[in-house]
Amino acid sequence: MENVKIIGCGYAKAEKKLFNTDLEKIVDTSDEWIVQRTGIHSRYITQTKNTSDLAFEAAKKAIKDAQIDVSLIDCILVATTTPDCITPSTACLVQEKLGLNGQECTSFDLNAACSGFVYGLSLASMMLETYSTILVIGAETLSKIIDWNDRNTCVLFGDGAGAALIQKSNQGRMVSFTKSTGDKDGFLMCKGLSLQEKEMSYLEMNGKEVFRFAIEAMPYSIEKVLEKANQKIEDIDLFIPHQANIRILKHVAKKMKIDFDRIFVNLDEFGNTSSASIAIALAQAKEQGKIKKGMKMVLTGFGAGFTSGAIYLEW
Ligand SMILES: CC(C)(COP(=O)(O)OP(=O)(O)OC[C@H]1O[C@@H](n2cnc3c(N)ncnc32)[C@H](O)[C@@H]1OP(=O)(O)O)[C@@H](O)C(=O)NCCC(=O)NCCS
Repeated sequence: MENVKIIGCGYAKAEKKLFNTDLEKIVDTSDEWIVQRTGIHSRYITQTKNTSDLAFEAAKKAIKDAQIDVSLIDCILVATTTPDCITPSTACLVQEKLGLNGQECTSFDLNAACSGFVYGLSLASMMLETYSTILVIGAETLSKIIDWNDRNTCVLFGDGAGAALIQKSNQGRMVSFTKSTGDKDGFLMCKGLSLQEKEMSYLEMNGKEVFRFAIEAMPYSIEKVLEKANQKIEDIDLFIPHQANIRILKHVAKKMKIDFDRIFVNLDEFGNTSSASIAIALAQAKEQGKIKKGMKMVLTGFGAGFTSGAIYLEW
């Protein structure tokens, strides 16, 4: 369905702000290296909260922003790679925290890594044929799957959550494109729970290969979604991409001839929060007054799998 409107959004930060200089004390790295190679200055880490707690905080803010009664929500979808537990789903835990136990509400998680929020919105827009008010959340506590001795990964990621509420409406438009290609070489994975790895393991990454994938996948997704929506790149007022690395965003901007001031960036503050990244950026852009009625926007992500996708929005 294309007649879809985001009626509210919100985000939650984890409580501990970790600066690059803090990481200098843990691994052989430097603030200068991290800033030059990634654009990241800090990230938020939780030591007291589960993914469902951050998801719940973001959800409450989205509900407040939308000015709706919580009981209207009849579907909750949480995109995460770091759920509290294998079962029940994080979405069911959020349902409980929102006081919706016993209410008819369909809640489940999805895992599409850093493309999770884009996949979530895409799926939710189709589910509006059946449900009236869908809460889509991207939430992560990546700090629990990060090897804090591995400088290749620990400087990049952070924890957090973002949420959006969607409803059917003639006043908005949403068009989506999603794709997965497979990652047979295992360039980005966290192996825990496979037959061979009975213990939970850490996130492993070949940064160069992931970089290469990202700078192909994001432009492809943007082109595909604009083609589906019958829009041109110059018509887009604001791009909200997955926040992984400023150099990736600069590559994409150059390749697609997008002025950099049309791209929302908060990775300097948050680092890469995977499924939460685009959701947090959307809510923060709205909070900062950067999203106005009638604006045309594109959200785009890429991640492990390899997954990728984009959402075209008329606000
Ligand atoms: C990870 C990434 C920042 C590395 O940047 P890069 O320019 O490719 O750097 P390289 O991997 O070539 O490493 C260059 C050197 O820096 C070193 N290095 C890696 N991490 C470092 C760190 N945190 N501090 C200091 N040096 C570091 C490497 O060991 C390497 O040293 P060597 O030349 O002696 O072997 C970059 O590849 C990237 O962002 N990739 C995409 C990752 C991503 O987005 N992941 C999430 C997907 S959702």
